[in-house]
Amino acid sequence: MRRVYMDNNATTPIHPEVMEVLKESLDLYGNASSHHSFGTEAREKVEEARASVARLIGAQPEEIVFNSGGSEGNNYVVKGVTCEGRACSISSRGNHIITSSIEHPSVLNVAKCVESLGVEVTYLPVDQYGLIDPDGVEKAVKDNTCLISIMFGNNEVGTIEPIEEIAEIAKRHDILFHTDAVQAVGKIPVDVNKLGVDFLTLSGHKIYGPKGVGALYVRKGRKICPLIEGGHQEMSLRAGTENTLGIIGLGKAAEVAAKEMPGERKRLTALRDGLYEGLAARVEETRLNGHPTQRLPGTANIGFKYVEGESILLRLDMEGIAVSTGSACTSDSLEPSHVLLAMGIPPEEAHGSMRFSLGRENTDEDVDYVLEKLPPIVQDLRQMSPLYAKK
Ligand SMILES: Cc1ncc(COP(=O)(O)O)c(C=O)c1O
Repeated sequence: MRRVYMDNNATTPIHPEVMEVLKESLDLYGNASSHHSFGTEAREKVEEARASVARLIGAQPEEIVFNSGGSEGNNYVVKGVTCEGRACSISSRGNHIITSSIEHPSVLNVAKCVESLGVEVTYLPVDQYGLIDPDGVEKAVKDNTCLISIMFGNNEVGTIEPIEEIAEIAKRHDILFHTDAVQAVGKIPVDVNKLGVDFLTLSGHKIYGPKGVGALYVRKGRKICPLIEGGHQEMSLRAGTENTLGIIGLGKAAEVAAKEMPGERKRLTALRDGLYEGLAARVEETRLNGHPTQRLPGTANIGFKYVEGESILLRLDMEGIAVSTGSACTSDSLEPSHVLLAMGIPPEEAHGSMRFSLGRENTDEDVDYVLEKLPPIVQDLRQMSPLYAKK
């Protein structure tokens, strides 16, 4: 049976060039902090990777802090800037943070956590496309706002937020600005200086690198409480012996992403649009969730009225097609997606929405296969749907 993987926002396959480097590096076991040749060899590789990640986002190598991935980076910033509600606030301004209602759980749940410790949090709404209004950000600013954290590209619907405009507002008010760019980096151009961000989160396994490794960009001069205290690794910002192999893989993934992005961006946008248009032509009452154009290249979140997304997912899986009903981090929850609800989509329609996230291995033939298999599945499920019968 043909197998089609369209869940690249959950994770991506390792790029062949990354695989090659990982294989070559398996026996590089020196501790990068050791002052002998074994350690120096590892240190050189770690620093090469740091330079490669920095190049991908227009940063300086010393502004890149390696960590375990996107969740850690996001925890780090929200907890680190607010010092988890303790009186030692890094910012002299106070302990109010602004974020949005559509963030990934690794921002939203951390915001709730620090809120319970006394930090004040404003969760901004979004419009029908999942867009955050920069004027709304400005209106939410208070005298005690110390951090604004707004994601770059949404993992469920792909909407790309006006990060540059929001960063400008933060700068004008002397507020630290963080963006969770886990879904944007490697897919669209990201330049920390053009954007004007203070902190930026990225993750290896979303850009064809290994899982369990990522990086946080920390602008030179910005202070933050370390999340993990201990040794002096990573400029004393993240203790723990470096995950050398993971970091090497991330460095290679960043290098390859920079090279492949322009072509892949165009190709995936065309594939994604072909998929949606093909489905809309074959299945009545479908809707595209997310911004029609201001969207990540490979992401199409599509609602099929009157049916359950979970049922579609299982039936597609039986045909060898892998998609998702939302983010992988909330896939155990029966609640409709918080992102779709925040966009004003009724719960029953949110339940019938599927995320197709295309990646570098997807082809026109994959799209044709989905266009062949999916419409009869939706028709079949609708025949069994009490909502469809009542319409
Ligand atoms: C937008 C966003 N932020 C953060 C994360 C978490 O990244 P990681 O899986 O590396 O912890 C994800 C992963 O799905 C994501 O999509």
